[in-house]
Amino acid sequence: MPLKYQRPKGTHDLYPGADSWADDSARRQHLEEQFRLLCRLYGYGEVRTPAFEDTELFKRSVGEETDIVSKEMYTFETKGGDSLTLRPESTAAVLRAYVENGLPARGGVAKLFYCASHFRYERAQRGRYRQHEQLGVEALGTDDPALDAEVIGLALAFFRRVGVRSLSLKLNSVGSLESRAAYLIALKAFVEPHLAEFSPEGQARFQTNALRLLDTKSARELEILADAPLLSSYLSDDERAHFGTLRGYLTDAGVAYENDPFLVRGFDYYTKTAFEIQSPDLGAQNALGGGGRYNPLVERIGGPPTPGIGFGLGVERTLIALQALAVEMPPAPFPTAYIITLGEAARPAGVKLLADLRAAGIASETEYGARSMKAQMRAADRARARYAVILGDDEIAQGAVQLKSLADGWQHRVPLAEVVEWLEGDDNRRPSA
Ligand code: HAM
Repeated sequence: MPLKYQRPKGTHDLYPGADSWADDSARRQHLEEQFRLLCRLYGYGEVRTPAFEDTELFKRSVGEETDIVSKEMYTFETKGGDSLTLRPESTAAVLRAYVENGLPARGGVAKLFYCASHFRYERAQRGRYRQHEQLGVEALGTDDPALDAEVIGLALAFFRRVGVRSLSLKLNSVGSLESRAAYLIALKAFVEPHLAEFSPEGQARFQTNALRLLDTKSARELEILADAPLLSSYLSDDERAHFGTLRGYLTDAGVAYENDPFLVRGFDYYTKTAFEIQSPDLGAQNALGGGGRYNPLVERIGGPPTPGIGFGLGVERTLIALQALAVEMPPAPFPTAYIITLGEAARPAGVKLLADLRAAGIASETEYGARSMKAQMRAADRARARYAVILGDDEIAQGAVQLKSLADGWQHRVPLAEVVEWLEGDDNRRPSA
């Protein structure tokens, strides 16, 4: 019979041991754990926001003319008539929570991190999904470029820690709304005489969101744009100084980066610093992560003027890169003990011992369904347990078990009442050969 239900296009089922690393729940958990550890090290606390928000929030923050808002949002009307949207990104949602919960009044810098799913109605392909997970941070309360350096450093430290060896950091300053407005006039004046040579998409961007013209992949458009004016010439003194100080910090920290004047990213909220971390192992969807400053955004959504910066790192893309690099991850924790029972009388004792071992914090397994000794030993090997704990009728009669090391076949008879203690002490108790 054909399978009746399939997961929606562009989504993943996660389960242990999946062939595609992006679908492997254990590997995903490993990335999340490493990210959480790093965030603690850098002083970031977790924020969790709802999976959906008022549609207006994203329109106002991300920008009406962006691809995300104009084409990709999962927007629905509730029975009560409200318009809600599954979060396509988290920056707007985290800032809404920051304002709504009065965090600005605490003063200082609020440093928040998240591990969350996001939803975008995109053309699904390798590395681009309709539900994807990001590991992200948002740091709010200062314009100090030292914070920019910290945030970028944290993203790079994560990739280093999990083993993404090959990556590049692209860096740009996209100025402020004011300097960008002046630049856009110059850019449009430059492009206009060539507009007929631009793709229909380029022509549409020219009208609605001209900065995004720089984001093109078309060789012809790039050739034309090679002589276009650069945003860097339009930065104010403050913006130029901020960018210079940040680059100094990165250089001092030994961080390699590429200055990319065409890096504009697909959000209206960025000001000053914008960055992207790219991998050569990803094909077309080569951004492992990206972020930047958004100094006017808190005020824009109704909070006090509060500068901020953050990033989002793509979990699926990180796993695709790690698989391409064949990076070994720490093995899943295998059980210490595998309980094998032979005969009727041994079973209840085995079930009890299993519970006692687990209560003592010793990872333990058993075989379900009565099977031969050989089948159970094979199962213990397959589970990659350290010890088989064998309970037969004879052993039960004597109140003991046979402990067998599966690595080298070493065996020892241990009183049932002492098994937990033995396995807790494990190597210490075992006499050397
Ligand atoms: P973003 O560049 O749209 O930024 O997403 C961040 C990362 O999420 C991307 O670099 C990519 O690795 C991953 N990603 C995005 N869309 C998809 C998709 N459809 N399928 C798979 N992976 C995807 C943001 O969302 C900003 N909110 C980041 C930020 C935080 N900026 C400041 N703070």
